[in-house]
Order: sequence, then C-alpha cells, then structure tokens
Amino acid sequence: MKHPLKLLAPLALILSLTPLGGAAADAGAVKATFVTEESPEIAEVRKLGEAAINRLATQLVREVNSAMAKDGAEGAVESCHLKAVPITNGTVAGLPRITAVKRTSLRLRSPANAPDAAEKIALDHIQQLLDNGDSPPPLLVQRVEAPPAAPEWRVYKPLGIMPKCLACHGDSAGQSEALKTKLATLYPADKASDYSAGEWRGLIRVTVADAPAK
Ligand code: HEC
Repeated sequence: MKHPLKLLAPLALILSLTPLGGAAADAGAVKATFVTEESPEIAEVRKLGEAAINRLATQLVREVNSAMAKDGAEGAVESCHLKAVPITNGTVAGLPRITAVKRTSLRLRSPANAPDAAEKIALDHIQQLLDNGDSPPPLLVQRVEAPPAAPEWRVYKPLGIMPKCLACHGDSAGQSEALKTKLATLYPADKASDYSAGEWRGLIRVTVADAPAK
C-alpha cells in the first residue's frame, strides 16, 4: 500500500500545526516531545525553522535541477545531498540559531542519513498518520532532551516525491544503465527507488538552538 502525501505542501505553504496531544516518547536516554502550543518562543522556533527549511529545500531542488539539465540524472547524483551546506562557528551561514540540517527517511538511500532516536520518532509518527489515512502536518516541532547535551528544538518538514524526483527515486526499470551502476556502486544498500509521485519520501530537519539568554 503506497501512501500519497495529500498535504505535501508547496515549499512556501504556511499552515498551523495539527494538534498532536503532546505525544512524548522515550527512546533510550532521549526524550523527544512534539510541541504544539503557541507560545511566542515556539512561534519563533517554528518561524526560524521553516524559513531555514524552505531556503535549504529550494536551494537543493535548484542545484539538482541545474545539474540534471547539464549532466543528466547520473551526473546529478552528487547534487542531491546537504553536505555542501556550510556550518561556521556552529551555525548555518545566514540562518540564525540553526545549528544542524539533515534529511532522513524510513527508506534510505544512504546509510549516512539514517535517523537518530528523535528522528525515528518523528518518522514513525508521520508513517502512523499516513497509515491511519490522516494528512501529516506541514511542519513538526519537537523538543529533544538527551543529557548531557543541551536541549534543542527540531523542526521537521515532510518531503514528498515530485515528478522530477522520479529520475533517481522512481522505477529503476526506467533508469539508464549508467545511473543504475552509479547508484549501485555508491549506495549498495539503496532502498530509495521505486517511489511514485506524491508518495511520502522522508523528512528534512533543522535543529534550532535555544535563544541566547538575555
Ligand atoms: C539526480 C538524482 C536525484 C534526484 C533527481 C533526487 N535525488 Fe534524492 N537522493 C539522491 C541521492 C544520490 C541521495 C543520497 C545522498 C547522500 O549521499 O546523502 C538522495 C537522498 C535523498 C534523501 C535523503 C534520505 C536518503 O534516502 O538517503 C531524501 C529525503 C531525498 N533524496 C529526497 C529527494 C526528493 C524529495 C527529490 C525531488 C525533489 C529528490 N530526492 C531528487 C539522488 C537524487
């Protein structure tokens, strides 16, 4: 059973978060709680997170598009990642309080993108909503506490498969030999093929550090 991502938002879409009833879960020593209340602090976290995600996602799609136009899908394989996002002095350039960015999925292409405990909770939560026939929220905000690390906010956005993603994540029978060979060589454990347009692909996540004490 495939899951079309009904609510898969155009990047700029801003909607309020579906209440999740404060679902919390413990995974090992990690406490990860979805946050839905509307305090000014959380509104700020969501705003910073969403702006960062939109910028990174737009940039990524643009880079993949231009690499594909130039070198075809097999030449663009190195473009679909976030490794190029520069982190200086602990934050992403031009994005205040954003200390980390990542994409992850329940069906991974690269093991390097495997979810950590808090991300797994977010992935499972979205999968559960889809299994129940519910639309996932456009953004999830999560508070993560994993002492001794400082607590952090995470903002997640579900990513759906758009038609242009199919070149590398669609039916492998339609891929060129060159692309298949390249993917098989770089990603021997690849599980991220054979998607259809509209399916849920995974999450893009940013970490938002607590505001500096005033
Ligand atoms: C040119 C080929 C190509 C296209 C087009 C492409 N991807 Fe990817 N995608 C990849 C490769 C290669 C990786 C593994 C990157 C890495 O090593 O981190 C990847 C990884 C990902 C991941 C990270 C999780 C994982 O499985 O490793 C997500 C999420 C993702 N792609 C979503 C998308 C979406 C959404 C689109 C369309 C907007 C898209 N991709 C288009 C090649 C592509």
